[in-house]
Amino acid sequence: MSKNDSFDRVRGPELHLSSTIDADDTVLVLGLIGPESADGPSPSDAPAEPTLVTVDGILDDAAAEQISASLKVLGATGKHGEVHRFPAPASVPVDLIVTIGLGAPADVDDADKVRQAAGIVARSLDGLDSVATTLSDANLDAAAEGFFLGAYRFEEFRSDKSRAKKAPPSSVTLLVEERTREAKAELSHAAAVADCVALARDFVNTPPSHLYPEEFADRARVLAGAAGLKVEILDDAELARSGYGGIIGVGKGSSRLPRLVRLTHNAGKDAKTVALVGKGITFDTGGISLKPPAGMENMTSDMGGAAAVIASTILAARLGLDVNVIATVPMAENMPSDTAQRPGDVLTQYGGITVEVINTDAEGRLILADAIVRAGEDNPDYLIDTATLTGAQMVALGTRTPGVMGTDEFRDRVARLSAGTGENAWPMPLPTELRAELNSRVADLVNAGAQRWGGMLLAGVFLKEFVPEGVQWAHIDIAGPAFNTGGAWGYNPKGGTGVPVRTILAVLEDIAANG
Ligand code: BES
Ligand code: MN
Ligand code: ZN
Repeated sequence: MSKNDSFDRVRGPELHLSSTIDADDTVLVLGLIGPESADGPSPSDAPAEPTLVTVDGILDDAAAEQISASLKVLGATGKHGEVHRFPAPASVPVDLIVTIGLGAPADVDDADKVRQAAGIVARSLDGLDSVATTLSDANLDAAAEGFFLGAYRFEEFRSDKSRAKKAPPSSVTLLVEERTREAKAELSHAAAVADCVALARDFVNTPPSHLYPEEFADRARVLAGAAGLKVEILDDAELARSGYGGIIGVGKGSSRLPRLVRLTHNAGKDAKTVALVGKGITFDTGGISLKPPAGMENMTSDMGGAAAVIASTILAARLGLDVNVIATVPMAENMPSDTAQRPGDVLTQYGGITVEVINTDAEGRLILADAIVRAGEDNPDYLIDTATLTGAQMVALGTRTPGVMGTDEFRDRVARLSAGTGENAWPMPLPTELRAELNSRVADLVNAGAQRWGGMLLAGVFLKEFVPEGVQWAHIDIAGPAFNTGGAWGYNPKGGTGVPVRTILAVLEDIAANG
């Protein structure tokens, strides 16, 4: 069992639904919609004042007028992300009013704009315990997710617990005119989604000293078991015996030996089956093809794909999705040592394809290849793999945009659904001419090409060799998007982001609904 039980902590504020401000609430967060943008109506009009987003019965006329007067003095515009704070009028039972700009009226129809706004304001409320908000009137589930994810913190490893005084709110009341059944269902869905995104973040944020393959597998076992998933874990001996040459080859340089975690959510034989595969390198030094020191610490995030797959599978169970989900998650630590694999070694992947290891730092594709072949044995209708696979993903698309490759139709479907979540995975090709780059002098394939162009695509072309014929496949490279090395933005703090949990969920829900 795990040596550290902190992984079952509360990961964000409690979310409540109410038609009145709670007696405990000390802050009211109001949305503010700006005027039409410059290309909107007549420029001769005086600049319109921003409009308050409110819920019937929360503000009387006098309070609304006082708030508008304060906003005028402050020069509030309603520009997206703009935050103002001032004392509450006497008739409103809170101490403080905080406003958050939602942008132009059309921006309110964009769920991720509302989610980002909620995240931005949540990050500005440290030290304030209990807040109520009318952002729910713009979009209930986006507001709930944004608040929860913006208020997410990872303080596990700080010795000074007094920092907790500056903690984000522990309770958010989402105001609605009526607590309808639909609203309750929407909020509980949002709470489950946000909690699982936060779970993926927790995994990514846990340092490699504390999260290594055995421990990662143990935590997955406990959490997935509690969610009602079937769990199977192969240890290093079983992996070696069964011929998982990629996982063994990558993992054998470390004293902390590899694992393969399998989680199953069963929806019955009439439902479609989706295989999920996630890269679980708990730390990537590069191995014998050692990485340079600058930024190597960020390779704590090299299990971001595994984290997202485990969290998404737990989420599928929590939501009772009408789709079978089978997760296959390889976990290994890529270290240089006298037992490590060498450049020039040849290994045999699960299923029999041989690979000449040109570069031990191209390790992700080796563990994924084994897992993809194993996942194919379950005869899935769809296969989604996700991985912090290539630096080239960031060269091509930057730090916030995942690249999605695969079979054309499913790739485009995943990209379209991802756009709806705000995670914004972008479709990329798998050019057939790149296949020649993978020819080896001695084996079936090499794991890395001789030149650097199109590195993200070449990794995808390598994985394609292992995807069974007839399976609709999407490969999501999240090298940049899984881990925020810059400042906090929107609902994303520094560190783990939880991408692409919400994309995977959107795809699972779409398959459950439409096949
Ligand atoms: N984990 C890295 C990719 C990565 C880089 C993720 C930066 C996040 C941030 C992966 O294992 C790797 O080292 N890829 C190599 C492949 C190359 C040797 C063919 C790369 O991208 O340089
Ligand atoms: Mn690597
Ligand atoms: Zn890696």
